[in-house]
Amino acid sequence: MYPDRVVSGMRPTGAMHLGHYHGALKNWIKMQSELPCLFFVADWHALTTHYDDPSVIERSTWEMLVDWLAAGVDPSQSTLFIQSRVPEHAELHLLLSMATPLGWLERVPTYKDQIENLSNKDLATYGFLGYPLLQAADVLIYRASQVPVGDDQVPHIEMMREIARRFNHLYGKEKGFEEKAQDAVKKLGSKRAKLYNELRTEYQQDGKDEALEQAKAMLDDAQSLSMGDRERLFGYLEGSRKLILVEPQARLTVASRLPGLDGRKMSKSYGNSIALREDKASVEKKIRTMPTDPARVRRTDAGDPARCPVWQFHQVYSNNDTQEWVVKGCKSAGIGCIECKQPVIDAIVKEQEPMHERAQQYLDDPSLVRAIVADGNDAARKLALETMRDVREAMGLAYT
Ligand code: TRP
Ligand code: SF4
Repeated sequence: MYPDRVVSGMRPTGAMHLGHYHGALKNWIKMQSELPCLFFVADWHALTTHYDDPSVIERSTWEMLVDWLAAGVDPSQSTLFIQSRVPEHAELHLLLSMATPLGWLERVPTYKDQIENLSNKDLATYGFLGYPLLQAADVLIYRASQVPVGDDQVPHIEMMREIARRFNHLYGKEKGFEEKAQDAVKKLGSKRAKLYNELRTEYQQDGKDEALEQAKAMLDDAQSLSMGDRERLFGYLEGSRKLILVEPQARLTVASRLPGLDGRKMSKSYGNSIALREDKASVEKKIRTMPTDPARVRRTDAGDPARCPVWQFHQVYSNNDTQEWVVKGCKSAGIGCIECKQPVIDAIVKEQEPMHERAQQYLDDPSLVRAIVADGNDAARKLALETMRDVREAMGLAYT
């Protein structure tokens, strides 16, 4: 009923690194040529953990946007915007909060994890508990069908689906819909009414699409129905509620994960990252000094790629031939580690070349980025307002 649409966001963490690229951005770039996409900076989400130091958010936002553009997110294909510039996200968040059980928020796994991990911060706040609900508003306000995310975010998407379902259930009702629909069924005449009910059950209980098609064809033929009854009978076939909000699907990033230089998760705070636009000399130095299988003390000691973070880089960056060369050479001490690392250095440098190039125009003229985002904000806001009109009406808030 609503068109396919992709929405995803990232908190503004400043300059992106290659972990972000392989874990998320590459997937965004692929999707933007397939479907309409909206990508946004979740600056309010950053406040849920940085409420005591919001001064970094502005700079991080623009740095991150330059890196998205450098990576190949294309403003002529996708809409780039900033969450706080579309204040309707906050309105929907508020309205959704009225009917969201606390337990749904408390049982989201990231909630307890984060409170424990960031124990130096007081996260016992209202805003932090509401993090996934704000995220739900971010997605539901665009009636997105797909949300590209990492697997840590899957529980958030699950919760969004429940929120959408609950909203439609509570507010998608036409007064007396069920009764009106059943009256309309009777008007079909006993034979057709029986067939209608059977086909409806087949579709709703067994998911038989043919039954739905057959029922629709029958309704097309039933000349005597009024317009209102006809619409009701169409709606009643697929459910008994209007769909105001759409349940989105998670689209997991398939790209292989790129760990940090030390084999842990790549993160700026661990000091194990390579920036998206790291300069060439620094990439070389970082890879050359990267730890390898500790068993290879001397050049003549054999090693095992399974115990080496460089191997994980090869899995992302090297073709089968090179990978075979690594495994054989490592296990037989046929190659040295420096030799083994060279193809990885070359591949990263090559990957980054177009990124440096694309970034240059935005570094030379930052107003270009501002203009792209201003257009994106407007485009996103237009879509958000359409949904909000229906939401307000469904909740009985459309009075003037
Ligand atoms: N929670 C997401 C993260 O930490 C960021 C985010 C906020 C998001 N709103 C979103 C992602 C909406 C997808 C859709 O990565
Ligand atoms: Fe790692 Fe390659 Fe050295 Fe083996 S040869 S330990 S895979 S860097």
